[in-house]
Amino acid sequence: QTTPLAPTPPMGWMTWNYFADNIHEKDIREMADAMVASGMVEAGYTYIFIDDGWQGGRDNRNNMIPDPAKFPSGMKALADYVHSKGMKLGIYSDAAPLTCAGYTASLGFEEQDAKTFASWGIDYLKYDYCHAPKDSATAVERYTKMGDALRKSGREIVYGVCEWGQLKPWHWAAEAGGQLWRTTYDVRDKWKNLSSDENAEGIIDILDINAGLHAYAGPGRWNDADMLVVGLYGKPGPSGDMGGLGMNDTEYQSQMSLWSIMASPLIATNDVRNMNGATRRILLNKEVIAVNQDPLGKQAERKIHDGTWDVFVKPLQNGDVAIAILNRSDKPRNYTLNWAELGLDGSYALRDLWEHKGAGTGKRWKGRVQAHETKLFRLSKK
Ligand code: DGJ
Repeated sequence: QTTPLAPTPPMGWMTWNYFADNIHEKDIREMADAMVASGMVEAGYTYIFIDDGWQGGRDNRNNMIPDPAKFPSGMKALADYVHSKGMKLGIYSDAAPLTCAGYTASLGFEEQDAKTFASWGIDYLKYDYCHAPKDSATAVERYTKMGDALRKSGREIVYGVCEWGQLKPWHWAAEAGGQLWRTTYDVRDKWKNLSSDENAEGIIDILDINAGLHAYAGPGRWNDADMLVVGLYGKPGPSGDMGGLGMNDTEYQSQMSLWSIMASPLIATNDVRNMNGATRRILLNKEVIAVNQDPLGKQAERKIHDGTWDVFVKPLQNGDVAIAILNRSDKPRNYTLNWAELGLDGSYALRDLWEHKGAGTGKRWKGRVQAHETKLFRLSKK
């Protein structure tokens, strides 16, 4: 059997929640430099994903071109630069005539655009679903069309389906050629939605949708819970107001823990050029990243969900088990968790992946968990 594309969840940095469509090749080059300098690339964040807003229409042969004011050197030059840093470049389009932000998109030009992306050296396509009919048959048809076009493009291009989950892409996106598919509306820099009708989600809202989809994930097929908002602190950059109120470091650490154990792609969107210590510590925790990137490729199953506590269990390739314990309530609480409640028999040696140290050996864990905090452990059979 051949290795699938995206054998582990893709990792990188995406322009959208920081820049929105106010992007420029200079910023992207700087971000690539900062990704290397900060250790992000070494930690596995190898993709730069250019989201909506790069497009400058089509030339007189209908080839897509980047906006010359934003990308004066062209996309090929940018891809070459990103590749020279040992990184990969992702780009964005939409399965309709126009994208969400109103730029030129790919409907009817799938093969031509896929070839253009390949000729630039693009390694990843995020394919959005704004301005497209909300029925499964149309979605399957449009996503398959681009999936086939990418396969025939002459380059290995990872394909991210971005339909936001209403048409249940976990049932059809892999067959359409996708390696990952968004499961929810857009993430915002907030813990929870205050009203249920917002088309943008807090961390807990996304968690509650994505957690139920563990059976659909595996190597080359991932539930994409959208970007890590770690480090935005309610202040995205040139994007203006994205509608997030900001979170604290405990909550950012929870998002990192939960996205990691759910084997979601890890896609930062903060200003990597200016990260504080907490943001670095969270995004660059290699023991946590190893849980996300474990080659077995299992998404954790949520085994406890009682209103206060969520407990996630993710089997790892070497026989260890990762466990996440989230206190959803608004105050600190004590908890005793017997491994037997999770179906884990016998004794385990425990490692705390945020403290980077052993946390005892036995048949249970007992401790205090702060409001909105997630403990992340690695258990090895004793
Ligand atoms: C909707 C997507 O869900 C976002 O992640 C982003 O790509 C925007 N569209 C861009 O317009």
